[in-house]
Amino acid sequence: MTGDPGERAAVLCALGAALPVRSESNAELCTVLDTSDAWIRTRTGIAHRRIADPATSTADLATHAAAQALTSWKARPVQALILATTTPDAQIPATAPAVAARLNLTGIAAFDLAAACTGFLYALAAAAGLIASRTADAVLVIGADRMSLLPAPGDRTTRPLFADGAGAVVLRRGSATEAGALGPVVLGSDGTHGDLLAVPHGGHLRMQGPPLFRHAVDRMCAASTHAVRLAGRRPEDVDRLVPHQANARITAAVGRRLGIGADRQVDTIEHTGNTSAASIPLALAQATVQGTLRAGHRTVLTAFGAGLTWGATTLRWPAIQPAGHHLFHTIQGSARDQ
Ligand code: COA
Repeated sequence: MTGDPGERAAVLCALGAALPVRSESNAELCTVLDTSDAWIRTRTGIAHRRIADPATSTADLATHAAAQALTSWKARPVQALILATTTPDAQIPATAPAVAARLNLTGIAAFDLAAACTGFLYALAAAAGLIASRTADAVLVIGADRMSLLPAPGDRTTRPLFADGAGAVVLRRGSATEAGALGPVVLGSDGTHGDLLAVPHGGHLRMQGPPLFRHAVDRMCAASTHAVRLAGRRPEDVDRLVPHQANARITAAVGRRLGIGADRQVDTIEHTGNTSAASIPLALAQATVQGTLRAGHRTVLTAFGAGLTWGATTLRWPAIQPAGHHLFHTIQGSARDQ
């Protein structure tokens, strides 16, 4: 790859998202689980979640979100694709090469990255590394998950939370002073608490909600504070906090502890649920469409997930041009024509 060595910051320059068509309401869940709309709303902030039909794969969701991002990137070349997911379509091969092939990008570097709900932030860091090391001048970073596959059908603790979706961004080589340039990415893990959220081979998702809640708040606050400090800022300088959408109460608690009021928090969980690696790019797309996230906003992204894993980074939100009329693609069934 070419370029001035002083111009190798990673700059977010395009965004896309994809959601399954089917929206499952709390009322529908109440017909199969011992729960209530009021319990789910007050404990989690979720009213609906999008559930993919059996014919829709993680690659389908990823391909549609990536196609939206590539359209707004005006089909300029990318040299690498990173797919953050914990629900790949197969153990072997990775899902990323199939997504690249369906986007007519056969030949580029393509790999899956598993860091659960922190996957998108790990993938941003990996993409920034590929740009800094001259492996690529532009990288497609996708977060896609079919989390609805993982809970046991009758588990009222986990089934209301998890849902399906995908989001994608393009990071390109650029200057650290441009809008969209990523600040330092803070990442961490603690495998001693791996049992708090786990899917054993051949089993269903098992989760210990209350301790996870506390770890999520602690880790996202610490990582955000660290990332903001490394970027030479203070929490009071932050215009928009975009946390992984796990629970509206977690988002509110992180905001409260950081002194970032509700009007500066992006909370989109009501209609999407927890989509794991897709949650941050989906939230970015929703907030951009709604106009709550605008060009120039000093933004913090932070995530927490199974592992445990966590991370945070900062950027000044760039002027994103939606692909066509919208950033979102809603899909049903296979996207093999993509
Ligand atoms: N409907 C009705 N009652 C439910 C329920 C549901 N869907 N799910 C759990 N309950 C019950 C529990 O059985 C428990 O009953 P008990 O007091 O009789 O034992 C009661 O509600 C309280 O359960 P608890 O787990 O303490 O609730 P909570 O306030 O901690 O909320 C979570 C549960 C899962 C919503 C919350 O802990 C959470 O969001 N944790 C983080 C999970 C997460 O984000 N995981 C992904 C990390 S990336």
